[in-house]
Amino acid sequence: MTEVLTQPAPSESSGLALDRASHPTPMISSARIARRVHQLGRHVSQVYADIDTPLVMVIILKGATVFAADLLRSLSIPAELEFVRASSYPSGTSSNGRLKLAHMVEGTLVGRHVLLVEDIIDSGVTVNAVARRIRRLGAATVRLAALLDRPARRQVEVTIDFTGFVIPDRFVIGYGLDYAGLYRELPHIYALT
Ligand code: IMP
Ligand code: MG
Repeated sequence: MTEVLTQPAPSESSGLALDRASHPTPMISSARIARRVHQLGRHVSQVYADIDTPLVMVIILKGATVFAADLLRSLSIPAELEFVRASSYPSGTSSNGRLKLAHMVEGTLVGRHVLLVEDIIDSGVTVNAVARRIRRLGAATVRLAALLDRPARRQVEVTIDFTGFVIPDRFVIGYGLDYAGLYRELPHIYALT
């Protein structure tokens, strides 16, 4: 089901900047993303078809917001939204190993079914820490939806229940994903490295 990308289109950028004027080839086009997110939405709706409270989507800010907005509108079941700010990447393209957690959820999660929504799973450290926190808050179930899975640099084991695309070891931007706060607005996903 999950789409695995093995031959990424070479980025036409030089250094860590995307030359928009040269119309670089996306790694994943917006049309392809849209198709995949709709499939994920259907799958999520099937898995949670029988729960008796609305699903709680816990969105990991900021990168997952674009994916989450599209995923939400692909659901055919009721869903609530909560937000968590967690980052092991203060800036740049590699982790410094530190993790900050903030903006914890406002509603109670006791007995609720939680779907964590993340843009990309890299080392796995971020989502692991968030999942641990959410479980401690008493959630009945905790599952994970990740638009992108980059297994090359995984440090902790992570089970991704709903994966959009498995990508090679390249730093990516666009569709919510940033480099130093920029490029989130791009509709396609590009490799920057
Ligand atoms: P992890 O904790 O190492 O799994 O890192 C996950 C977080 O780092 C995600 O929430 C992303 O926001 C960020 N991140 C990791 N790789 C990339 C990338 O290629 N582009 C943009 N952000 C990234
Ligand atoms: Mg981020």
